[in-house]
Amino acid sequence: MSKPILVTGGAGFIGSHLIDLFEAENVEYIVLDNLSNGSVKNISTAISKNFFLQGDVKNFKLVEELISSASCVIHLACNVGVKNVIDNPLETIETNINSVKQIAYYCSINDIPLVFFSTSLVYTSHKEKKALFSETDETNTLGFHPVSMYVYSKKMGELLCDYYKQKMGLKYIIIRPFNMIGIRQQNHSGMVVPAFIKSAISNNTIDIYGNGEQTRTFSDVKTAMNLLWEIIKKNTTYGQIFNLATTEKSTSIIELAEMISGILNEPIKINFIPISQVYGDSYRDVKFRTPSLAKLKQHISAWDERDLKEILKEIIEYERQLNNSN
Ligand SMILES: NC(=O)c1ccc[n+]([C@@H]2O[C@H](COP(=O)([O-])OP(=O)(O)OC[C@H]3O[C@@H](n4cnc5c(N)ncnc54)[C@H](O)[C@@H]3O)[C@@H](O)[C@H]2O)c1
Repeated sequence: MSKPILVTGGAGFIGSHLIDLFEAENVEYIVLDNLSNGSVKNISTAISKNFFLQGDVKNFKLVEELISSASCVIHLACNVGVKNVIDNPLETIETNINSVKQIAYYCSINDIPLVFFSTSLVYTSHKEKKALFSETDETNTLGFHPVSMYVYSKKMGELLCDYYKQKMGLKYIIIRPFNMIGIRQQNHSGMVVPAFIKSAISNNTIDIYGNGEQTRTFSDVKTAMNLLWEIIKKNTTYGQIFNLATTEKSTSIIELAEMISGILNEPIKINFIPISQVYGDSYRDVKFRTPSLAKLKQHISAWDERDLKEILKEIIEYERQLNNSN
């Protein structure tokens, strides 16, 4: 048997879709997750095969042991979500920075690749500019606000990966995902698509923070996992940063709300709530966040872009079934 890939945070939203792909492709893996935001329901096959370990990435002894018998680490485990980060800023630093430091170190001494999940939130310096973000763009934070803890922690994770590359030859790949969407995404971490869909289904309302003109790029998580796996398999992508998205199309938040309302085909009340009322005066929202996929396309020639409406329909169907079974 070959050595498994260690997937930290594999019981969460993105991780569970990666596990689906690994199952389909017969890739050996092991999931480490403390279930703080993930669920065993997301990875029932991994559970039945005993490929899941409930544990914390801050348990460095356990992490060291797991890495010593792994072929690669895909590090997704993290304190996520605006509200979660505001409520637990220090936990965010401990989980998001200290664990990356240890994982990067153990991967270095075992000479195995580390795929580190950063975030597109590191791109905030061009927030007034309607331009595509490239991997080489300057990065910044969201102002003097607790959410900056999250952004800084991810940026520190990137810097730590690079430090271990310089010092010990770490083979890292840094991934900056742009708004992944799909089934199993939680809304309590403040993700817009599950928040809108769940609220529209249960209360016939959608709360938009701000005027709704801000735009985002929504990517099908399943397609994104295929792209990620292609990048990892190349073996020539170490020491590089990749934007992860499946499209360069951007959608305004109001368009998103209207699309969801149209699919549900029911009267949905749309409320506009000032962002400062939700996240405080010091929070600065990013107006446009669209990736450049030029670099990804240098490595992967083509893929099928799923229509946003189709992805939303799939999520709505899934959420309706969940609602009916509760
Ligand atoms: N979803 C997106 O659109 C998006 C965008 C940018 C970046 N990311 C990054 O991708 C990664 C995965 O995001 P997601 O949306 O799947 O989030 P998620 O919360 O669904 O998954 C994270 C998983 O990590 C686990 N976890 C948290 N702290 C842990 C700890 N200390 N020890 C072990 N497990 C722990 C949680 O239980 C959860 O299952 C994160 O690093 C996130 O920052 C996601």
